[in-house]
Amino acid sequence: MSDFPPGFLWGAATSAYQIEGSPLADGAGPSHWHRFTHQPDSGIPFGQTGDRACDHYRRWREDIALMRDLGLTAYRFSISWSRVLPAGAGRPNPPGLDFYGRLVDGLLEAGIKPMPTLYHWDLPQALEDLGGWLDPSTADRFADYAGLMCGQLGDRVTDWTTLNEPWVVADQGYLHGAHAPGHRDLGELPRVSHNLLRAHGLGVRACRAAGAERVGLVVNIEPKYPASERPEDRDATRRADAYMNRQYLDPVFLGRYPAELEEIFGTAWPSFPAEDFAVIGTPIDFLGINYYSRSVTRCDPAGPLGGWSAVADPSRPHTEMGWEVFPEGLAATLLRIRDLYGPIPLLVTENGAAFPDPEVSPQELQDTRRVDFLRDHLRAVRRAVAAGADVRGYFVWSLLDNFEWAFGYGKRFGIVHVDFGTQRRTPKASARFYSTVVRSGGAALG
Ligand code: FCB
Repeated sequence: MSDFPPGFLWGAATSAYQIEGSPLADGAGPSHWHRFTHQPDSGIPFGQTGDRACDHYRRWREDIALMRDLGLTAYRFSISWSRVLPAGAGRPNPPGLDFYGRLVDGLLEAGIKPMPTLYHWDLPQALEDLGGWLDPSTADRFADYAGLMCGQLGDRVTDWTTLNEPWVVADQGYLHGAHAPGHRDLGELPRVSHNLLRAHGLGVRACRAAGAERVGLVVNIEPKYPASERPEDRDATRRADAYMNRQYLDPVFLGRYPAELEEIFGTAWPSFPAEDFAVIGTPIDFLGINYYSRSVTRCDPAGPLGGWSAVADPSRPHTEMGWEVFPEGLAATLLRIRDLYGPIPLLVTENGAAFPDPEVSPQELQDTRRVDFLRDHLRAVRRAVAAGADVRGYFVWSLLDNFEWAFGYGKRFGIVHVDFGTQRRTPKASARFYSTVVRSGGAALG
């Protein structure tokens, strides 16, 4: 007996810049991640870039076959905006459009539902040159691009996602400088967040106008737990949660920013035009949750946003990213979304882990910690479903070892090992485990 709802999607996720390679092939324009990785001071280990990555741009057939062999029923990937619109706007690039058309056709032939994300962090450099996410008109360009793609693929793709993890775009790209475009400016953050949300809302409208059946948003949620019952720790936890988890969801579902953002940013948090919230609150059809870990939070006036910091408990298991393994947090998150925002179909759009793989040939690779991680988190999803969460699918991050942004190729999240020298793909034990779970509809979780 499976305890997952009928039609539950069993998938894997990737993103364009992390796997495709060939960033400038066949008329594509550069993205700001391409530019960022090529700066000598990018901070990425060994100056690594996405120039080759998993060479998926040329090996996509093989990657679809891999997913088919594993029995996956859905694939979440992203579209590179500058591959289809080299200047970010204006004239499309036919070979770029063809690439995604063929990918979608190949997935459908393999019986795999295509689930594209329109923006997984790679902005056309041409738009970055005009101000990027600091410029309100980038949201309008995003809507044009969203309409273009829905028009192109809408006869074969039913479910669209606007943005992936706007919090990371703003926090890592504009506050900590670890991601493109590498800014470190607290004052920029509110404007960037707001423009991302406007892009999302305008994008939803453009997709619908182009005939899209369902449109959603993907956010990363990291539940915050107070380090103690002291009022100052509880307050700090509330602010950390507002900053990371509710900054994007409150405007979409409740039509306003959490009040805590003004506590955090003070006068640097502007008041935004009321009409923007009507755009941002355009109803969506599903919400994607990316879940990796939790954070235990304490009051810390020296923390980066002047109020809190995270406390790590070394006795708990952690992944190679330093993220605590905490499956209970996934079940709690799925249930909390309903409590905060009401009923909305949910997908777990990313969940997975980087662990140092044992030093053996890929064929012998027993990534048992990843197997345990996936099993425990899938069981958490099942518990949430039993408790009434409306979860429609699960996507493991990631199908392939890939370019992990600021960490380069050093952190491997794949259920399939990639030898970046030969581009050989080898399913790990976690891929075989996940395949068994998928084929049993979840029953094999025990
Ligand atoms: C998420 C990103 C994804 C990957 C994983 C590990 O924040 O969406 O691209 O980097 O983390």
